Amino acid sequence: MTLAPDVTECEALLASIDTGRALPSDWYTDPALYRREVDRIHRRAWHYVTHVGELAEPGDQFLWQIAGVPIVLVRDRSGELRGFVNICRHRGHPVVMEAGNRKVLQCHYHGWSYNLDGGLLRAPRSQMEPEFDTSELGLVPVQTYVWGPMVWVNVDPGAPSFPEWIEGMPELMRERGCDVNEFVHAFEHTWAIDSNWKVCQDNTIQCYHCPTTHRDLCKAIVMDPREQILGIGGRYWIHHRIPFHDEYAARLTDKFVPGEPWFYYYNWIFPTTYLQHYGRGFDIGTLEVLGVDRMRFRHIVFLSPGTPEEELSAGHRRLVVDTTIQEDVEICGRVQQAHAAGIAPPGRLLPTSEFLVQHFQRLVVEMVAAR
Ligand code: FES
Ligand SMILES: [Fe+2]
Repeated sequence: MTLAPDVTECEALLASIDTGRALPSDWYTDPALYRREVDRIHRRAWHYVTHVGELAEPGDQFLWQIAGVPIVLVRDRSGELRGFVNICRHRGHPVVMEAGNRKVLQCHYHGWSYNLDGGLLRAPRSQMEPEFDTSELGLVPVQTYVWGPMVWVNVDPGAPSFPEWIEGMPELMRERGCDVNEFVHAFEHTWAIDSNWKVCQDNTIQCYHCPTTHRDLCKAIVMDPREQILGIGGRYWIHHRIPFHDEYAARLTDKFVPGEPWFYYYNWIFPTTYLQHYGRGFDIGTLEVLGVDRMRFRHIVFLSPGTPEEELSAGHRRLVVDTTIQEDVEICGRVQQAHAAGIAPPGRLLPTSEFLVQHFQRLVVEMVAAR
């Protein structure tokens, strides 16, 4: 594999994924390939960014980054949520430097200011420039989508809309008893992970590793693959339905009826976010890609409005020491070290048990190869 694979090389790789070969190690360690992924995948895909509580009032401004692109989200005067690349059209300083509530977006460097809809409002001394046209100098917009309490962003204005990206998934979730509109942000925690983002996704999207890696999780959900239903919902999303053990379900919810299975549902949206639910609210797990072997993982819990404060703080305390997440964080670091050794041939996947990993790796290669 060269540093920048061409279409023929990608085709050969897709054929090898079809036969059960995993991606070669350089796909997890090569900085040039990572930059290609940033351009072709992360800057063209939908990512969870924050919850609507951070942008409740007109004038609220929230900062984030998506694969190196600084983003500012804004609630404008009419109540619409907008997103922009947070780079001043004058000479590139960040326009907004910290979250807050302001009437305009004003750049610290030379004082250019922008309306909340991104249009350039004022540039000091520009009245002395006969050719100066403010209408051409608005902030560069990004796509935003509010899904229930969540705010999703796609840096690429030409990318499919978020509803197209996850077409069919909200309906499936509703059929399975989860309407995201009923919940609000409750609490969250962040972990640093020293691995390539794909190591984490290879790990999370299939539970083949769960019986041996996650002893506590095994006490909750049924590991027999014959009891699990996994599927590809669309090009960019997948889903799982896994029964809880009855004893666990009885403790988890008073809606459990003996003799009727209670399910854990997991959905995953390419490339960085999963969304799981099992009867009370829902959780998100999302990656913030920082470099070829660096990222942050956030787990975010959404619950009914009015959940008592003690319940929220107890839930947060449990999340911080969650053994399943900690086990995954450690797994990812160790697998990354193995890839970094650069000596192992591509791994051998088990297509019956790991077809979702194959689907994910295929999609990565297809998008890297795309023009
Ligand atoms: S870089 Fe923003 S005003 Fe000059
Ligand atoms: Fe795991």
